[in-house]
Amino acid sequence: MSIHIAAKKREIAPVVLLAGDPLRAKFIAQNNLKKVKRVNKVRNALYFTGTYKGKKITVGASGMGIPSIGIYSYELYAEYDVECIMRIGTCGAYLDSINVFDCINTDIAYSESTYAQTAFNFSENHISHQGKMFDVINTTAKNLGIPVLSGAIHSGDAFYRVDRELPKMAKEYNCLAAEMEAFALFANAKYFNKQAAALLTVSDNIVTHVQISAKEREKSLAVMTQLALESAVRL
Ligand code: HPA
Repeated sequence: MSIHIAAKKREIAPVVLLAGDPLRAKFIAQNNLKKVKRVNKVRNALYFTGTYKGKKITVGASGMGIPSIGIYSYELYAEYDVECIMRIGTCGAYLDSINVFDCINTDIAYSESTYAQTAFNFSENHISHQGKMFDVINTTAKNLGIPVLSGAIHSGDAFYRVDRELPKMAKEYNCLAAEMEAFALFANAKYFNKQAAALLTVSDNIVTHVQISAKEREKSLAVMTQLALESAVRL
């Protein structure tokens, strides 16, 4: 048991998929895993462990934003001996050439956040994906014929902004998209020498303002979920 997760140690698998939304974690677990058991419900941050094609996998919630995923992924690595965490989430595209439903495998996360500096004295404004999971996702996507972009993304602290210009950091480092979690996940993995990846589906385009509906969101996430699970069995 950790401060925010009440599962017993052996109830969490070495490979964990983290969705922002607890109900999405529940949906993924109940529709894809066998022998599923709910292993955490503290704060309604639902975690489920089961098997996919015989491999033990945990699917759970990270919550939204760097502080939240920072806490959950830290405790998973530190207290539950988790080796690999794959964030599966949505993002907003910064380029008009990127379409809703596109999948992005995050190579590097840039952020203005003080999280990595405060937690670990990591002074850089970017942290790479950690370990081989990024490559496994790209290879699996190729084998399954799922198109995936890879590149830098921007882990921001503000979803709503008054400024209509793209954030300075996004322009400076050619970030493909905005999300709010990968930087903290990568920082924790780097500190613990574990694996981390962030697989994202574009849910909106920040330049063109095209968005997908809640219903479409569910459908599009099915492709990302399949890619995530198929990658997880290859780890
Ligand atoms: N900004 C930040 N995070 C996001 C967005 C966005 O536009 N869309 C989905 N997650």
